[in-house]
Amino acid sequence: MHTARAVAITLFCIVGLSLAVNAQRGPSTKSRPWLIAHRGASAYAPENTVPAFQLAAEQGADYVEFDLQLTKDRQIVCLHDNSLERTTDVEQVFPDRFRKTGDGAQATQRWMLSDFTLAEIKRLDAGTWFAPKFKGTRIPTFAETIDSLRGRSGLFIEVKSPELYDGIEKLIVAELEAKGLARPGADPKTPVLIQSFSAPSLQIFTNTIGTKLPVHFLVSVRDAAPWMTSDGLAKMKAFATGLSPEKTIVSNQPELVARIKAAGFPITPYTFRASAVATGYTDVTAEMSHFIDGVGVDGVITDNPDKMPGRAGVVPRYDP
Ligand code: G3P
Ligand code: CA
Repeated sequence: MHTARAVAITLFCIVGLSLAVNAQRGPSTKSRPWLIAHRGASAYAPENTVPAFQLAAEQGADYVEFDLQLTKDRQIVCLHDNSLERTTDVEQVFPDRFRKTGDGAQATQRWMLSDFTLAEIKRLDAGTWFAPKFKGTRIPTFAETIDSLRGRSGLFIEVKSPELYDGIEKLIVAELEAKGLARPGADPKTPVLIQSFSAPSLQIFTNTIGTKLPVHFLVSVRDAAPWMTSDGLAKMKAFATGLSPEKTIVSNQPELVARIKAAGFPITPYTFRASAVATGYTDVTAEMSHFIDGVGVDGVITDNPDKMPGRAGVVPRYDP
């Protein structure tokens, strides 16, 4: 009797431990699909800013996705583009600090993030371009981003253009260590995942630094073909635990999903937008629903967290 009980308890512990370990490395195919807010709730607030992050958390995002790059003085900040003019008032604040790229009719002026210190970046308004009510919103540092989401949502960290920022991987992991988040499961309310379009950067995280955090490889339609072969998936195994494909990769070839899953990768496609619903769907909820239930993906990356299928009725307390 005692032996049977001991065996049952041991089995219970082994199964529990195994589930916990799997949860730390990525979504289980049996868990509810991940709601990943793209650049925050970026349909409703300026992308990659604290108001967008907080709204996403209020709308029930399991993770908030954001883009990390470095300033001239090597501070980690959230910004999608490599330059500042689309999402800030840099042209007014620093009118002469542009670089000229291209010639003739192709010539453009760009205010590159890497030409500005954090103190200078903090003078910029990153909210008014989106809507006047966001006037005064600043570009957040990585540390400020973590503080705004801690205990409320997970961090879906995209390392953007790492080829421009030598050593950014070590700086990101150092900040996660400083915040006590560098290990899987360190804060169950704030899970952390790293993703990038750059295989060499993910190799640094996984193989040079040796992170045990889940790592997703972002793949665009343009770059997909060689990675979607058996050889490509095997190579990916060396540096990634999951795949974040452009959504049309899997909608054009749904048979790929079984192969990607057989290779052990959770799939979190991007980007679902109410403003750009794919042909054939009534709205973005229907589109996401098809990907989750029909195609069988593990999560969706969306500008509209409030439109996630099955999550209706979540009323945000926070209204920017
Ligand atoms: O998370 C996926 C998505 O963010 C990748 O594309 O250009 O929006 O960073 P992008
Ligand atoms: Ca991104």
